[in-house]
Amino acid sequence: MDAVQRIAQLRAEIERHNHAYYVLDAPIIPDVEYDRLFRELQVLEAQHPELLTPDSPTQRVGGKVLEGFVSVRHAVPMLSIRTETDTEDSGAFNFDTRVRNALGTLGGEIEYACELKFDGLAINLRYERGVLVQAATRGDGETGEDVTQNVRTIHCIPLRLSGCEAEVIEVRGEVYMSRRDFERYNDRQRALGLAALVNPRNAAAGTIRQLDPALAARRALSFFVYGLGEVQGWALPATHSGILDALQSFGLPVCADRAVVRGAQALAGFHHSIATKRDALPFDIDGVVYKVNDIKLQSELGFVSREPRWAVAHKFPAEEQLTIVRGIDIQVGRTGKLTPVAKLEPVFVGGTTVSNATLHNEGELRRKDVHIGDTVIVRRAGDVIPEVVGVIQERRPADAKAFVMPATCPVCGSRVVREEGEADARCSGGLFCAAQRKQAILHFAGRRAMDVEGLGDKLVEQLVDENIIRSLPDLYRLDTATLAALERMAEKSAQNIVDALGKSKNTTLNRFLFALGIRHVGETTAKDLARYFGNLNAIMQADNERLLAVPDVGPVVAQSLVDFFGEQHNRDVVQHLRELGVHWEEHEGTSMQVLPLFGKTFVLTGTLTALSRDEAKSRLEALGAKVAGSVSKKTDYVVAGAEAGSKLDKARELNVPVWDETELSELLGRCETI
Ligand code: IVH
Repeated sequence: MDAVQRIAQLRAEIERHNHAYYVLDAPIIPDVEYDRLFRELQVLEAQHPELLTPDSPTQRVGGKVLEGFVSVRHAVPMLSIRTETDTEDSGAFNFDTRVRNALGTLGGEIEYACELKFDGLAINLRYERGVLVQAATRGDGETGEDVTQNVRTIHCIPLRLSGCEAEVIEVRGEVYMSRRDFERYNDRQRALGLAALVNPRNAAAGTIRQLDPALAARRALSFFVYGLGEVQGWALPATHSGILDALQSFGLPVCADRAVVRGAQALAGFHHSIATKRDALPFDIDGVVYKVNDIKLQSELGFVSREPRWAVAHKFPAEEQLTIVRGIDIQVGRTGKLTPVAKLEPVFVGGTTVSNATLHNEGELRRKDVHIGDTVIVRRAGDVIPEVVGVIQERRPADAKAFVMPATCPVCGSRVVREEGEADARCSGGLFCAAQRKQAILHFAGRRAMDVEGLGDKLVEQLVDENIIRSLPDLYRLDTATLAALERMAEKSAQNIVDALGKSKNTTLNRFLFALGIRHVGETTAKDLARYFGNLNAIMQADNERLLAVPDVGPVVAQSLVDFFGEQHNRDVVQHLRELGVHWEEHEGTSMQVLPLFGKTFVLTGTLTALSRDEAKSRLEALGAKVAGSVSKKTDYVVAGAEAGSKLDKARELNVPVWDETELSELLGRCETI
């Protein structure tokens, strides 16, 4: 195969994987595999610069820094739509009445396409003969700005359409930042003590207008298409929903939350159903949009004052509101982190009444310069905790009071410390601090830790406040009489909790380690440690050097473990828990290193018949092996079942020994009897 063919093949394959990953949310191959294809293409393009084209997936990142944006005149103006601010059903009924009046069809029901109103920024994408040639902002509707470089960095936007014959097709839609990407970006900024972005909409708009495309590429944006601009050489489907179906088939991202309905009542029904799921959506919306579905009827309806008569936005309650800060409290978390929380004049935002909003940390509090008495913007979107996003400086009253972080913990009085390079201030009281104790107990009892069913935050709050539980071992000293004497606690529920506690005593070393809530020891690290050492005493006695020998354990984790087990009171907690009956299987006196498959990495692929993949995985792990998800130079064996695919190819390519299921069963049988 020559370079031209291979480049074409790689581009098609990479775009197929992009589509699977970013549009369908169902990746086909592991990241390493994707990276390999991508690098191969980059190398080939570097060797053959004459073959580089703007629709190559390698061209998504790394364009030149711009001096400014060039204006673009839209071939078809980008209009806006009328907004129905009445959030009640009348919003839907008013629109339907206007449409039927204008059409003179007062009797029959009209068919509508219903969609979400995405809260981002409108973009026009121009494809010529299937290739993305230009992306432009809406601007004033007549003229926008050329933001092609930045739009290229959005992975779900195809650089080439598949199966689209149109000479020219302009598609219009909304660029947005998902809530997860927004939170992720802000968490990183805050941890570095840098400014956070205000909301996903500003984040999207700011990123698109970023002059350095490399910076834009670092902030993950997404896109949904909802309409068309100029079209040449394509026979338009008869309905709006048909157009979206076609665009979807070209590989463009169309939101799945859409419906075709008839009549006003059904429009209101759509509004209701989306309102209930609004919080659970992965992105912000500020309402729904209704569009007359029939394109012929749309042109009959036409426009009034630059707004189509055939579409309307029906809003939801806003996710940002203004209110006044009445005070600032400090909350203490499980690891002692102090979080300033604004006490607000209650305000209805994002569908509920909010009276507390987080200010994240001292750095954020300073940067936003929040005073008690200030008017602030509060945001509550999705299941994210309400937060103060900014202050309206002009409204600061003369008697507004600045807030200073306390030098001692407001709950237990211990010293507050702020380590070098960390944005967070912490209470140094450890489990002496009631606030940390509550959080520590909730973590200990959590589903992925000791898994004590029914031990929720209200109950823990009571148990700690009434001094019934002073340390983790006290949990296992609870009896039904003590529990039943608590407010709002029936005999039966008290018994259930005692039973659940009893059941939780039978656990595993990794769950127990994780449950202790040692800083930086998450679930995965706890598993790595348990697997390596085999028993708790070995972990408790290990020094930095020994801990660093554990795969994936670095200096921060090692130091944290040494510090934790260096404290007599933590060692006492462990001993008391064991005395009270908490137990797990130990490899006494042995370490992981004597397990027969220690140090070996396996990859399972294809369909196994005699035993499930999960079973094979846990049996291999019990023998000390590591089971990885993808094949690399570090893989020792690949076990291939029926219909094994790319992992098998990769194993052959890297000369990794390949076993079939029988060979695996034999190995397991032999090792398990050792
Ligand atoms: S249709 C001519 N559909 O809302 C009709 N707009 O004023 C053009 N928007 O900023 C707009 N979701 O970017 C339409 N599903 C949707 C939308 C939507 C969000 C935005 C659009 C514009 C504003 C409409």
